[in-house]
Amino acid sequence: MTAPTMSSLSRLLVLLALVLVTGVAALASSSSASRGWNDSIEWVKPKEFDISINTKPIVYLFHKTWCGACKQFKASMNSGSKDVEDVVDFSKKFAMVNIEDDEAAPFGQEFSPDGGYIPRVIFAKPDGTPVKGLKNDGGNPRFKYFYSNPLELRRAMRNALDEMTPDWRNEGKTEL
Ligand SMILES: *[C@@H]1O[C@H](CO)[C@@H](O)[C@H](O)[C@H]1NC(C)=O
Repeated sequence: MTAPTMSSLSRLLVLLALVLVTGVAALASSSSASRGWNDSIEWVKPKEFDISINTKPIVYLFHKTWCGACKQFKASMNSGSKDVEDVVDFSKKFAMVNIEDDEAAPFGQEFSPDGGYIPRVIFAKPDGTPVKGLKNDGGNPRFKYFYSNPLELRRAMRNALDEMTPDWRNEGKTEL
């Protein structure tokens, strides 16, 4: 009676293959939180961001797949320039929330203080309260939270650290 054994074995194999494929797909989708905005940054999708255990200042990046300005900014984030390197460095001190397309829907008015344009970066305290004063100082004063390149973002991240975690420069240094 080997036939029934074989068929249950092959059924088991199919099942195992399915589990494997599902696992790999889940892994791929969770590791793609960057959506192209530089994989060296530990991006998190809004749905996977657990603010109740968050201790870091927050960068909320709002963008859409079809938006030209977003595509340009995104491309410049992969240029490997010194500014990108700095953004990657600074990003370790933030929760980096990557909000694509309709994921922006649950975010209230306080996340679009001067309009719902994109790309838009809103800095927030660890508890999620947006900090309006943290804006793109080198940008268009009518669209204060609009960024178009890593240099602007890098400057704003530095200002955000100075304002929200003034001790950031000393972190990681060994003190005797
Ligand atoms: C992300 O930025 C780093 C630092 O500039 C760069 O070395 C790396 O190539 C970038 N990642 C991608 C996927 O381009």
